[in-house]
Amino acid sequence: MKRILSGVQPTGNLHLGNYLGAIRNWVALQRDYECFFMLADLHAITVPQEADKLRQHVRETAAAYIACGIDPEKSAIFPQSSISGHAELMWILSCHTPLGWLNRMTQFKEKAGKDKENAVLGLYSYPVLMAADIILYKATHVPVGHDQKQHVELTRDIAGAFNRYYKTEFFPLPEPVIMGEAARVMSLRDGKKKMSKSDESDYSRINLTDDADTIALKFRKAKSDMIEGISYDAEARPEVSNLLNLYASFRGITREQALAECEGKNNSAFKQMLTDVAVAHLSPITSKMRELLKETDYLDKVLARGVARAHAVADQTLKEVKELAGFLNLKH
Ligand code: AMP
Ligand code: TRP
Repeated sequence: MKRILSGVQPTGNLHLGNYLGAIRNWVALQRDYECFFMLADLHAITVPQEADKLRQHVRETAAAYIACGIDPEKSAIFPQSSISGHAELMWILSCHTPLGWLNRMTQFKEKAGKDKENAVLGLYSYPVLMAADIILYKATHVPVGHDQKQHVELTRDIAGAFNRYYKTEFFPLPEPVIMGEAARVMSLRDGKKKMSKSDESDYSRINLTDDADTIALKFRKAKSDMIEGISYDAEARPEVSNLLNLYASFRGITREQALAECEGKNNSAFKQMLTDVAVAHLSPITSKMRELLKETDYLDKVLARGVARAHAVADQTLKEVKELAGFLNLKH
């Protein structure tokens, strides 16, 4: 059976990278896979969060999933923290994860910066929690943006280490699924930096809550270069290449086809073409999201249903893992 688990951290400012790099691909995959899409709130607290804002962002992110086309009848949508098995399995996996593997993780190096002594343990062990998220559901496929590939590969290593230790084929080794021309959406201000929720400049990203005028303004102000015409060269023209990838991704065509469509255009005419496809694509999502956000009861029902479905699978896996590990199963 083919099963998917993926998630986004509910930290606000859901942006085009999250949409084109991840959520949109989930929508396409939910036809052929049994899907579990969580709101990664346990991951979110690896950096400081205000409790009320986090609660609000969990609902907002759930609304975004649904507005983007995740069907709550087909796919389970749930907050990670509602299933205690994630944290429990993480502990067990952490006893099978050599420090050397974690030391290779580039995201930790980026997020911890120079002051590693003061970085919290959760930020460091975050990839072990992500491995637990995935294999708790025995997921076979994990659709993510390019930046998460290393973490999914680590998950394969950890699942393999567990299987070898207990001499079993208990966990399938999950495959990262990285799709399309927008697996790495870059900042609109700096084509060498990825688009991110935490960038101070709101002009660096298109948020899923931006209206048409804001989208137009952000693309107009997006950094480009002085070279004439539109061409793809990620090294020499990172900003223009990023915009071209976005155009191709919105249109659902290849980069080459996109280049053919904007042949002979100058930067500002191309930005207008991009704005038009982006607004046409995003405005139904934005308005659906706004409607859903008013329906807190509905959202909470969807989440509760998701939690029930997630529990059914997670509890079974955890029970079997505890048996393998040699923990007593006492009635109480
Ligand atoms: P995060 O915002 O870090 O929780 O990311 C949630 C999902 O969005 C993951 O699958 C990421 O790989 C994906 N993602 C985040 N930023 C980008 C980006 N700039 N380009 C492509 N995918 C991204
Ligand atoms: N670490 C992912 C991110 O920041 C979010 C995430 C947590 C995730 N657990 C996951 C993604 C499991 C896929 C599968 O983008």
